[in-house]
Amino acid sequence: APAPSVRQFDFLVIGSGIAGLTYAIKTAQYGKVAVITKDYASEGCTQYAQGGVCAVLDLTDSVQDHINDTVVAGAFLNDVKAVDVVCREGPARVIELVKLGAEFTRNKDGSLHLTKEGGHNNRRIVHAADLTGAEIERALLATARSHPNIHFFEHHLATDLVVDEHDGVRHCFGADVLDQHKMEMCRFIGLSTMLACGGAGQVYPNTTNPHVATGDGIAMAYRAGAAISNMEFIQFHPTALYTPPGSDTGGRTFLITEAVRGEGGHLLNAAGERFMSKYDSRLELAPRDVVARSIQDQMRVHGTNHVLLDISHRPADEVLEHFPNIAKICAQFGIDITKDPIPVVPAQHYTCGGVQTGLLGETALPGLYACGEVACTGLHGANRLASNSLLEGLVFADRAVNPSVAHAEYAFKNCGRQLHYAAASATFSGPRAAHPLPPSLSAWAAEKRTELNAVMWRTCGIVRRRSELREALAYTTSLQLEAQAVLSNAGVNTAAQELVNLATVAGLVAACALQRKESRGGHYVLDYPETIEAQRRPSVVTMEELTPV
Ligand code: FAD
Ligand code: SIN
Repeated sequence: APAPSVRQFDFLVIGSGIAGLTYAIKTAQYGKVAVITKDYASEGCTQYAQGGVCAVLDLTDSVQDHINDTVVAGAFLNDVKAVDVVCREGPARVIELVKLGAEFTRNKDGSLHLTKEGGHNNRRIVHAADLTGAEIERALLATARSHPNIHFFEHHLATDLVVDEHDGVRHCFGADVLDQHKMEMCRFIGLSTMLACGGAGQVYPNTTNPHVATGDGIAMAYRAGAAISNMEFIQFHPTALYTPPGSDTGGRTFLITEAVRGEGGHLLNAAGERFMSKYDSRLELAPRDVVARSIQDQMRVHGTNHVLLDISHRPADEVLEHFPNIAKICAQFGIDITKDPIPVVPAQHYTCGGVQTGLLGETALPGLYACGEVACTGLHGANRLASNSLLEGLVFADRAVNPSVAHAEYAFKNCGRQLHYAAASATFSGPRAAHPLPPSLSAWAAEKRTELNAVMWRTCGIVRRRSELREALAYTTSLQLEAQAVLSNAGVNTAAQELVNLATVAGLVAACALQRKESRGGHYVLDYPETIEAQRRPSVVTMEELTPV
């Protein structure tokens, strides 16, 4: 019989954002599902999404236009097949969300209100005022929690994937997990495992992502031997609220949705001038990498630590109706958005790269699937088009269901020996046991995390240099070893595990960036300022290949 620290499920889902919950709800009709999630289930990027989820739902719009906008924003590095399936299947997935109970903003005639954001040539963004993600997360969680086949394990941190060979090929059979409340390790065995852990914003000091976004899924998959792709393409959102030093923002920077610019907001520099015409004919609605670099340039030219975003020329009732939450948060900082310009600054926002997956969410490791921000499906190419992320999570969670069910049946029939071994070998003692960090090492981990953040902002930020990327790789490699040694000596705990993961993922950003001898989309390197056609291919790193070219 398996040890008490072992739980067995048909489908193991790691993460409870839009991607994990969509997959859990859809696989639950085929078997027993565990959703493990490292904080409260609602915590993750999904619940903070503002602008919306895009889909072609208007007769004047077309799938081909959505495809074009996606590849232009992605600087033509996108995988065209991934773009095609997301743009084609997206509308049906968004309608499913509506049927599931998500309440989006509607026009007076009852049709869905569609807003606009940078890079989109049409209005195609479905939203719930400026709290779209909270509404989607609410609807998905309500459905998942009421399903008898879905079991939630909150405050459970997945630390590593369980991998074994079958027929000479490494397969995934689940994950080892730290129960953070009981401070106990346990093993979750899954016939199919879905990695839906979100992105890695916390690698940077200035990020819109919440504290759970430490890149755990990417680090775990990398350690298990999966291929990691396009990590150099970190998306910096142009407009996060600038708050004075010392303000308590809960570890993340508050986003001012791009829909503010979509609805006519102007960017102004310290001299009060609209400046985007100096940089791009698409003005405030140019793709994010262009706007973020332009803002950074204006801040440099004028010696300021922010620029201004002004929507006060629009009717106050419309502004308040569309952006109630932004109005509320800004008011806490003494800003009335119907009258005052909003101080804004670019912040890390999205991890375009991740675990390389195929069109069915499959990874290089049979039995392991990935979807949502943790994955690199190829949809985003070198930069993500606004509001394509929630959509990507919906589409690939759905596409991964049938292959996961087939794989679960296969593993059940053919991998009895490995499953038995996975259960029998789940002994967590010595360095594999859970153990809180002693206070001195806790302080050390916090200090190292701040140092890593500063190094990454300086070396792998909006504008890069190859010498600094090399510096980042050397620094992160050494920090990763140091943090791993602490973890191995002190036992398993969240602070040390997250530090290992952050250092690993930061190293992957630098390694991928060093592979790319050009500037493209979210990767801008002064040594190679031009986009070079011969470099138009994804960067890929596997465990054996971390040494940069
Ligand atoms: P998440 O929603 O981030 O969920 C990840 C889950 O994994 C969480 O439950 C987390 O706790 C869990 N987890 C992580 N590590 C572990 C671990 N080791 N063990 C167990 N659980 C773990 N995109 C759009 O398309 N439109 C928008 O308008 C939009 N606005 C945004 C606004 C903000 C402020 C932010 C931060 C992002 C926004 N995005 C938007 C991006 C989008 O929200 C995310 O990319 C998307 O929600 C990711 O969904 P996900 O399910 O992949 O991950
Ligand atoms: C925003 O609302 O500006 C964010 C949209 C996105 O990240 O897709």
